[in-house]
Amino acid sequence: MKIGLLGFGVVGTGVYDIIVSGTTPELSDIEVKRIISLVVPEGFEHLVTKDINDIVNDDEIELVVEAMGGLHPAYEFVMACIEKGKHVVSSNKHLVSNYFVELHEAAVKNGVQLRFTPSTGGGIPWLSSLKRARRSDEIEELWGIVNGTTNFILDSMLKENTDFDVALREAQRLGYAEADPSADIDGLDTQRKCIISANLAFDAIVKEESVPVFGIRNITHDDVEYFTNNGMVCKLFANAGRNEDGSIYAYVAPVLLDKSSLEAGVDSNYNSITYVGKFVGRSTYMGQGAGKFPTGNSVVQDILDTMFDDATLKREYNSVEVNNSLNLHKYYVRTMGKLEAFLDIVEKEEGNSRYITKPVSIACIKALSEELYKDCPQSFFAQIK
Ligand code: HSE
Repeated sequence: MKIGLLGFGVVGTGVYDIIVSGTTPELSDIEVKRIISLVVPEGFEHLVTKDINDIVNDDEIELVVEAMGGLHPAYEFVMACIEKGKHVVSSNKHLVSNYFVELHEAAVKNGVQLRFTPSTGGGIPWLSSLKRARRSDEIEELWGIVNGTTNFILDSMLKENTDFDVALREAQRLGYAEADPSADIDGLDTQRKCIISANLAFDAIVKEESVPVFGIRNITHDDVEYFTNNGMVCKLFANAGRNEDGSIYAYVAPVLLDKSSLEAGVDSNYNSITYVGKFVGRSTYMGQGAGKFPTGNSVVQDILDTMFDDATLKREYNSVEVNNSLNLHKYYVRTMGKLEAFLDIVEKEEGNSRYITKPVSIACIKALSEELYKDCPQSFFAQIK
């Protein structure tokens, strides 16, 4: 199959290198015919173009890999390719989470396959497994670590006593972080992956604005020390599931886990994601959530699945009511903010501006956090599991 590569950065070059590596006979059935790239690396002059029409109008190219990142022009390029009957594999979580239903409907209308396994969990076959699960099962809930950068930071702060900023710079140097790392540390990257997973799991169209997010930007050494002294480990989690009334919950927050729990042991930049199926029960996937070859390999798997015609699910995705008021948890809050409504939900004061709340919903704590941040922008919030 002849393919076009849209983007030749970390993921695009990983895809190319794997395809030409000759590691398996299957790989030799894939040929990269054209590459869209703003820079032209030496030796690639015959493949690289800056004009998307060179790919859109090339009838020999049956599939495009979108690894450009960002919303525009990635969306326009992908849509133009779908409308020309080309299959699409995308590693771009921003694009897939924002335009999930538009892309799905366009793919169905034009009879092409749309795959995006690498967009969530990098090298882990998380979305492809979730999709397989959905062929026969109902998903009740899902949760886990889907951002390598924040896991790397939290792990370094815990084990190496590293400062937040130093750990972030190291994650950037290793190529884990987004171009703008606030997407990682403020939880937006996790939010996008939470939305994609929830959409697939619940046949849903979950909108960004209905998914509350807490990040880890404000976590301090003292917080980490307090967690360790209390037998807990902090991880940033994507959470989604079905409420008893049929509505969906979906949110992103740091969670405080017992140090003996499975996810507490997930180190470095690894991801670990779990779903619970009605029939299959709990199923956990762990591995490299980012990086050139892990993510590149996931793209290549999606290309091979398309060639072997493992078809897209026949699904209608529907707008859903997202209700984040029904699940109650205790929260760890460190804040100098003063707010009567907050003190009403405090169960215990732990000294040094630390509080443990009574069980409350993420919607409640999100609303209070917005007020507390006004008084104290350094406030930190984490759910206690
Ligand atoms: N910045 C992302 C992460 C890259 O750290 O997980 C992979 O999506």
